[in-house]
Amino acid sequence: MTDATPEAPSLALAARSVTKRFRGVVANDRVDFEVAAGEVHALLGENGAGKTTLCNVLTGLYRPEEGYVEVGGRPVRMHSPHDAHEAGIFMVHQQFRLVQSLSVAENVVLGWSRHGGTWFAPRRVEREVAALAEQYRMDIAPQAKIWQLSVGEQQRVEILKALYRGARILIMDEPTAVLTPQEVDQLVGTLREMARSGSAVVFISHKLPEVLAVSDRITVLRAGRTMGTVGTASTTARELAHMMVGRDVVFAGGPGSHEVGGTVVLELEAVSAESDLGTPALVDVALAVRSGEILGIAGVAGNGQRELAEVIAGERARTAGRVVIDGKTQEGKPWEAIAAGLGYVPEDRMGVGVAPGLSIADNLRLKSYRRNGLILHNKKAMADAEELIRRFDIVARGPRTLARELSGGNLQKLIVGRELSSAAKVLVVSSPTRGLDVGATESVRRLLSESARSGVGGVLISEALGGVFELSDRIAVLYRGRVTGLVDRKDADVDHIGLMMAGQAAA
Ligand SMILES: Nc1ncnc2c1ncn2[C@@H]1O[C@H](COP(=O)(O)OP(=O)(O)OP(=O)(O)O)[C@@H](O)[C@H]1O
Ligand SMILES: [Mg+2]
Repeated sequence: MTDATPEAPSLALAARSVTKRFRGVVANDRVDFEVAAGEVHALLGENGAGKTTLCNVLTGLYRPEEGYVEVGGRPVRMHSPHDAHEAGIFMVHQQFRLVQSLSVAENVVLGWSRHGGTWFAPRRVEREVAALAEQYRMDIAPQAKIWQLSVGEQQRVEILKALYRGARILIMDEPTAVLTPQEVDQLVGTLREMARSGSAVVFISHKLPEVLAVSDRITVLRAGRTMGTVGTASTTARELAHMMVGRDVVFAGGPGSHEVGGTVVLELEAVSAESDLGTPALVDVALAVRSGEILGIAGVAGNGQRELAEVIAGERARTAGRVVIDGKTQEGKPWEAIAAGLGYVPEDRMGVGVAPGLSIADNLRLKSYRRNGLILHNKKAMADAEELIRRFDIVARGPRTLARELSGGNLQKLIVGRELSSAAKVLVVSSPTRGLDVGATESVRRLLSESARSGVGGVLISEALGGVFELSDRIAVLYRGRVTGLVDRKDADVDHIGLMMAGQAAA
């Protein structure tokens, strides 16, 4: 796999005994980490283990209290990401920094002075970008405007930006969380090609199969400490899980099906809606969810899932049709949906899901206010927050921790946990386990199943077909905004559903 031998790898980047603290939390505790030129090096660890923090230290965003960073074998002092760029280190963040109205090529050169400040020859840049994209196996049109691109394509633009600026070390924090399986394959190809050409890649993901497919070596962090580095070819999922959590992880079987009650708690009749671009996103969608069942929505991202969730939650206008939550016909307002008994985990967590500047406890109070107009008094809110932290194993100092201080996965647990414990009648969840580590994924699946058993009607929107199969009682396939199939899980066949998702088979 790798041409870097363990004896004499040429060192690209290293953290030497790096310690980084936040108000009482030791996010990185004397972390040692070495990345060789020519390898893809994966960072693994549970939610809150310190992966993102380490990357932020390696790219000059944070300065460690102790320890230092080495580039090419020499200690460097970085005061900003700009210094990191000078050293050839680039990070692709999950929030892309692209200008929507400009083209791919324009975004690639934006803010880069190689072409003499603001002026550049568009045709030449387009040719250069096309050549880079081809070399690194990225499917992208240099003239396309950013707003026309899928999430996966926008990520390619971010990678091209880094390559164009001469990146030799690329750091990607959970890049696959937002990608379709096909896009993941293409990204793996690109990262392997970068390694082949001598660059170093740091790759973070909670999905072990991906990590095993793309990486040469793996370093595991646990509670801020380095647990060790292993060669990918000589390790197993079991060994890695053990290193991550410090004990053997039991992979439980599926939760099985639920007792489906008689009452319909959510009904959509002939619902149509438009996308942000004004194109048809949902066409004539009819669905009914009964108390106690989970309806899985399978589909490749971008086939109307987001709009479906938003229409139910009253956050997107319908152009036709009716939505009824627990017997109450919806005008189409978020508060109305919450009052009718909707629990909602949106795709975009930071935007709609949570107030980043508020504490865990206040985020819970905010939600209860939206539901019934009552502000919980402080003591109750604190107790509820403590309960949530305990039940969902959220890594936080306590109920007063601000939402924005939580690691990505722990923020996710907060939102899912809040909605699951909100006494909802109907629960709409989008990709509930995205960004969660193995243990948290298990608990969220178990809790979703339990909430169905207690009579909640659930809608589970996810691209992860495995999760949909494990949890759902029925599965609807969404393709180009239409429900193209609806089957009982016990009669469903994964391959057939996969073909329906691609529009290549009828129900
Ligand atoms: N800006 C911050 N302020 C306060 N605490 C922080 C901050 N950033 C991170 N932390 C804390 O540091 C610890 C490590 O967080 P980090 O984001 O590095 O974890 P992670 O391994 O990336 O987790 P995940 O898999 O959930 O993304 C967590 O306890 C987190 O709450
Ligand atoms: Mg993280």
